[in-house]
Amino acid sequence: MPEIIVNGERVSTPENAVVLQILRDQGLRIPSLCYHPALSPAGTCKLCGVEVKLPGKQFKIRLSCALHPKDGMEIHTDTQAVHEAMARAFTRLIQYAPESSGIRNLAAEYGVDLGPAPDECIRCRLCVRVCDEIVGAGALVMKKINSEEWVTPREGSRCIGCGTCVNICPTGAIKLKDEGFFRTISIRDETIGRNSLVRCEACGNLFATQKFLSRVEEKTDDHPHVKGHHPYCPTCAKLFSDRIQSVVPVKQVKPPVNGGPL
Ligand code: SF4
Ligand code: FES
Repeated sequence: MPEIIVNGERVSTPENAVVLQILRDQGLRIPSLCYHPALSPAGTCKLCGVEVKLPGKQFKIRLSCALHPKDGMEIHTDTQAVHEAMARAFTRLIQYAPESSGIRNLAAEYGVDLGPAPDECIRCRLCVRVCDEIVGAGALVMKKINSEEWVTPREGSRCIGCGTCVNICPTGAIKLKDEGFFRTISIRDETIGRNSLVRCEACGNLFATQKFLSRVEEKTDDHPHVKGHHPYCPTCAKLFSDRIQSVVPVKQVKPPVNGGPL
């Protein structure tokens, strides 16, 4: 039975055992995606690398799923070289399967940050610009993560829930969801803003966020053709508008002949 040294501890092992399995039996956490105990090793995911030294040789990274123990073999599982090799392997794998939550979750478990999952964003920055320049909320910002730019919520919950970014986005990357009394605006799995909705005082429909209505009130001046600020949704506001009634004459509808359709 060969005796190996794992992180400084002597371990006796069966000769034909697989090092990955020996390490796991010692309670050590080693990631793997391509290993299966019933199959011959393929060494394709490269996640199971550990630092290995044979007597008289140098330490080097070896794939533990494709390695059998040898007397005097020394193994380190928690060194910077091991972590770097693992991070390289995860980075390579995520390029093959960018949307895989399995790879992302496993990487996160081992402290490897692969950055956000891909989204539908083409980095035109329309959302960031409109929120800064027109809405004035400044709720979005471009942030560099893993050498790539991402649209992210700016710190400080600045979103007023107007939905302008959702409307201007040419690809549908930003989502708006009204649920119960709340409106949530998000990109990828990140919430940009969650704001409470208010009811139209005429029809009772939840139609806008309080923060948005307050912003409109704050930003707009009275206009001779527009009524003062009101608690009505756009549909009811139109119905109640003197201006619309005076500009668009009410159509005279003739009664149906012989009870026929209108
Ligand atoms: S989220 Fe939409 S609007 Fe914003 S940068 Fe990406 S594609 Fe452009
Ligand atoms: S488990 Fe995939 S290379 Fe070892």
